[in-house]
Amino acid sequence: KKDTFTFHNGVKIPSIGFGTWQIPNEEAYDSVTMALKNGYTHIDTALAYKNEENVGKAIREFDTPREDIFITSKLPAEIKGYDETLEAFNETITNLGVDYLDLYLIHAPWPWSEIGKDCTEGNIQSWKAMEKLYNDGKIKAIGVSNFEIKNLQPILDECDIVPMANQIPFYIGKDQEELLSFCKDHDIVVEAYSPLATGQVLDMPELKEMAEKYDVTVAQLAIRYCLEKDTLPLPKSTHESRIIENKQLDFEISDEDVKILQQIRDVRD
Ligand code: A2P
Repeated sequence: KKDTFTFHNGVKIPSIGFGTWQIPNEEAYDSVTMALKNGYTHIDTALAYKNEENVGKAIREFDTPREDIFITSKLPAEIKGYDETLEAFNETITNLGVDYLDLYLIHAPWPWSEIGKDCTEGNIQSWKAMEKLYNDGKIKAIGVSNFEIKNLQPILDECDIVPMANQIPFYIGKDQEELLSFCKDHDIVVEAYSPLATGQVLDMPELKEMAEKYDVTVAQLAIRYCLEKDTLPLPKSTHESRIIENKQLDFEISDEDVKILQQIRDVRD
């Protein structure tokens, strides 16, 4: 399978990223260093994760040029508006200690305390600020996260730049068919966060059986599934053996088995 996905502006993004959600700042330096040491070149963080400082320190101290590492961060879901977005972006690059980002995302269409609230106007203002940062060369690509079709449509209707990515929860059992095909139609790369359903897919007996057949672990089957569905997985781990394992995906799940996996019900429902 391909090593990169390509955004509609031609920028390439490594086809597996290291997720850092729920990695505390104290552990972020070691975890990100382990990831870089083991061949990850794509690190995903957010201001809201409160770990940007040590994520950035690990990247800066690692012996790889900045341009060979792909860094994503996110505008906090609670922050909507033009000036507010420019300010939050500055805070992020200061925390990380870098002078540009590879990808910057609106973390969610609504504040986490008011899931589902209509913040269309705020999102449009934030998006315009992100377009400015993009046009100024401060960000190589811009996108959104946790956006559904109804959240994406106003951006498509009223803004100049079509989001390059939408980062959504995606794992075996979480069927996102409609959103996936909408994103495909608009050339928006879908990134899969929580590809292991934060660990909850690991105990499913039917997955254990299929993983054995391919001689891989359930984690590898679940992460590979994201690639088979043309989404870009962002697995997270703080253990080196798992960090290595999650990137060894050199096998293919047959179409027949992908169909079987698609029928599985969400473990979290
Ligand atoms: P840990 O960080 O202690 O290794 P997701 O990527 O869906 O958010 O899932 C992350 C959760 O899954 C974390 O609890 C992580 O634990 C665990 N995890 C990550 N990779 C593996 C793996 N290869 N085997 C077992 N558990 C894993």
